[in-house]
Amino acid sequence: MSIIVSPSLLAADFGNIKGACEFINTSAADWFHIDVMDGVFVPNISFGFPIMEAVKKHCTKPLDVHLMIVNPDQYIAEFRAKGADIITVHYEACTHLHRTLQLIKESGAKAGVALNPHTPINVLESIINDIDVLLIMSVNPGFGGQKFITDTYRKIHEAHNLILARKATTLIEIDGGVTNQNAAQLIASGAKALVAGSYVFNNANPNEAIALLKGK
Ligand code: DX5
Ligand code: ZN
Repeated sequence: MSIIVSPSLLAADFGNIKGACEFINTSAADWFHIDVMDGVFVPNISFGFPIMEAVKKHCTKPLDVHLMIVNPDQYIAEFRAKGADIITVHYEACTHLHRTLQLIKESGAKAGVALNPHTPINVLESIINDIDVLLIMSVNPGFGGQKFITDTYRKIHEAHNLILARKATTLIEIDGGVTNQNAAQLIASGAKALVAGSYVFNNANPNEAIALLKGK
């Protein structure tokens, strides 16, 4: 399977969301990553449903929605109705993670779980078989353009081993500070999907940036 690249809308020009969607549609990108921040779970506020609607209207690729919010259960049905294909919640924001994942699956979306850099992989031992996408944060969530945390490689290995041991089908996705400098090692460690915001959208040649992330 070739590597999935999910450029993050957070680094795009919000004055031209249609243009960003058209770029995603025609590029080799696989998904479009949508970062929703509530100012409570993370110290930043990004955007919510109206922007999701605008993206859904123009984007033909799967919407990979990363919820950095408290009480995600309350909003899952609406994110699905607005066009989310993958809904990822934070382990740290869910008291009843199993219930939250069932809610996501019942909505018809794929269920993702994100882990902050300080959260060990082993907290997922009892739930890994219910997770479609494991989003390992390689920066502290809340902002684009931060420096990649290198302990991520070790966490990917550990996640990969857990997935194999449990015969799970979970796909490992990495988010934060991803560039052509670390993509190959992330993939060699077991990552199957890479999120990239500033590296793609602030690049003089975003199509080439996506190709480099895919190892082409
Ligand atoms: C950070 C977000 C990321 C962010 C990545 O909280 O989850 O998706 O957009 O941005 P870069 O690739 O610039 O680190
Ligand atoms: Zn994200």
